[in-house]
Amino acid sequence: MTGQPIPVIIDCDTGVDDALALLFAVRHPGIDLRAITCVAGNTDVDGVVRNTLTVLEQAGGPDIPVGRGAERPLIEPVRTARHVHGVDGMGDLGLPAPTRTPAEVDAVTLLRREILASPRPVTLVPTAPLTNIALLLRTHPEVVRNIERIVFMGGAVATGNATPVAEFNVWHDPEAAAVLLTAGVPITMYGLDVFQRVIVPGADVRRLRASAEPGTRLAGELLAHRPASPDPDSDDPAGGLGDAGAVCSVADPAGITTSLLPVEVSLVPGPTRGQTIVDRRARPGESEIHEGAREQPLVDVALDVDVDRFVKLWLSAVEKP
Ligand code: BDR
Ligand code: CA
Repeated sequence: MTGQPIPVIIDCDTGVDDALALLFAVRHPGIDLRAITCVAGNTDVDGVVRNTLTVLEQAGGPDIPVGRGAERPLIEPVRTARHVHGVDGMGDLGLPAPTRTPAEVDAVTLLRREILASPRPVTLVPTAPLTNIALLLRTHPEVVRNIERIVFMGGAVATGNATPVAEFNVWHDPEAAAVLLTAGVPITMYGLDVFQRVIVPGADVRRLRASAEPGTRLAGELLAHRPASPDPDSDDPAGGLGDAGAVCSVADPAGITTSLLPVEVSLVPGPTRGQTIVDRRARPGESEIHEGAREQPLVDVALDVDVDRFVKLWLSAVEKP
């Protein structure tokens, strides 16, 4: 590691893979995790707060402030992903309730306070629906002066998961994602195209699960968590890093290959709602020729990831508290 640690704030919906992201951020020496804010997504917001505090407690990390945020998206109702993340939203591992407590201020207030208080510009890493971030940008737009960039897990260039074309975090609150894209700061999109590729091999997961250190063992249990398994006969505990890959790309930006491309969120009702439309065309098409080019935000879109590099990076941080 060279230079000073990067000031980071994570906005999450913990969440099995959000937990993997938090464990990495707390333990990587190149990251100075200054606050965590919580939003409804994988489970209800109170469950997200509880899960986040549990992870911090198990990781034995410093007392990082945790803010409770939006209970629901701007327009849509809450639509949880408990069928993936378990009834408690974090794998139903039976962990004890945390003794740590959330910050006395709400997530938007905490975000504003910690962003403006940081001695160096903050990297904001949303790994959840973007409701808190949209509310922050609309309530306290002055924060952008101390944001270095936003690296968000969300969207997809190719295939969706919540719908055939829409990724869960963007689909859950499409209007909030549209606000994010016009934040006026550099944005990196760590979408499903790379998110789904970073898998920790079964042998590593077994080693983590056998650890006597609680944070490392929790990492192993989370990776081995399976929703109602599509393959009940498989005993391979290999598991995806998911959201943690986005935080890896903050610690090690060279692990992803990005391209600066126009990105737009579909807000229309119907089958495309929540889709991130990424324009990868080499030249303007008939639409631009006849109707003129529309102004669209440019986003650094992750198109490739060095899987082995991120797995090693994540393991090296999480296994050495
Ligand atoms: C995203 O949705 C959530 O279920 C995961 O935590 C991740 O942030 C993937 O679509
Ligand atoms: Ca998440």
